Amino acid sequence: MLVTGSSGIGGAVAAALGERALTVGRGGMVRADLSLLSETARATDEVAARQPSLSAIVCCAGVFTLRAEHTAEGLERAFVLNYLSRYLLVRRLLPLLRPGGRVVLVASAGRYRDTLGPMDDLNLRRGGRGLRIAGRTQFACDLFAVELAERSPEAAVSCVFPGPVRTRVFRDATGVPALVRLLLDAVQRRVGTDPARAAGTPVALAVDGREPGFYGLGCVRLPVPERVVAGRRRELWDASENLVRNWLR
Ligand SMILES: NC(=O)c1ccc[n+]([C@@H]2O[C@H](COP(=O)([O-])OP(=O)(O)OC[C@H]3O[C@@H](n4cnc5c(N)ncnc54)[C@H](OP(=O)(O)O)[C@@H]3O)[C@@H](O)[C@H]2O)c1
Repeated sequence: MLVTGSSGIGGAVAAALGERALTVGRGGMVRADLSLLSETARATDEVAARQPSLSAIVCCAGVFTLRAEHTAEGLERAFVLNYLSRYLLVRRLLPLLRPGGRVVLVASAGRYRDTLGPMDDLNLRRGGRGLRIAGRTQFACDLFAVELAERSPEAAVSCVFPGPVRTRVFRDATGVPALVRLLLDAVQRRVGTDPARAAGTPVALAVDGREPGFYGLGCVRLPVPERVVAGRRRELWDASENLVRNWLR
């Protein structure tokens, strides 16, 4: 089973899966900076060389940021790390997924509004700040989960909102004033769930024959919001396909 992210929730998922887990991340068994599509593509080649088939792909790598930043590839960093690298990774590894194999996206399953904006400016060339920078990447995962499930019925696709979890996500956040970051981190430490408990839902979805869908902590089913409409899903799929086309085989 492939797990992206080797610390935080991803680290806890990998720990629960034990020897079954192959981690991809800056500190993973397969080293890769998933904010770069070139690195994501290279990582999938390395995964394919190590694993002839996969029973699950669990995407956990992600960041929280309030500031748009651009990578050396000219793409918006959080958009790539939280969403587009997942799209590319899944597109490249889907042929390796066994029939009935699972794809689990750890994001915010239905929590965020549609703030994606126009599909011709997904990389925020005109810049931007605020909750939208991270929030739109979470909504993109909602759209992707539902569209992928429809296009690839042989895969069981789920999206997970773990709720607040005691990880480094706010400590490492960018574009957030230092004092606010400290405050968010303190609140999260107080009310957040232990990463091992938060890992329970993605792990159950990766290993059980559970019905795919949107889930929260403790494997609670969540509704798929009405805003995850077919038109928007297809628009994002087409735009994503265009952005990753140089890295598709
Ligand atoms: N924690 C929460 O309260 C919470 C709430 C809602 C949703 N989520 C979602 O859950 C996911 C995981 O969050 P978390 O709390 O585990 O975050 P975290 O503790 O900050 O960990 C970040 C994760 O992302 C990976 N990562 C970061 N930058 C990377 C890069 N450039 N390339 C490759 N991997 C990178 C890290 O792995 P490496 O160290 O190997 O790079 C690590 O696994 C995120 O998508 C987040 O949006 C979290």
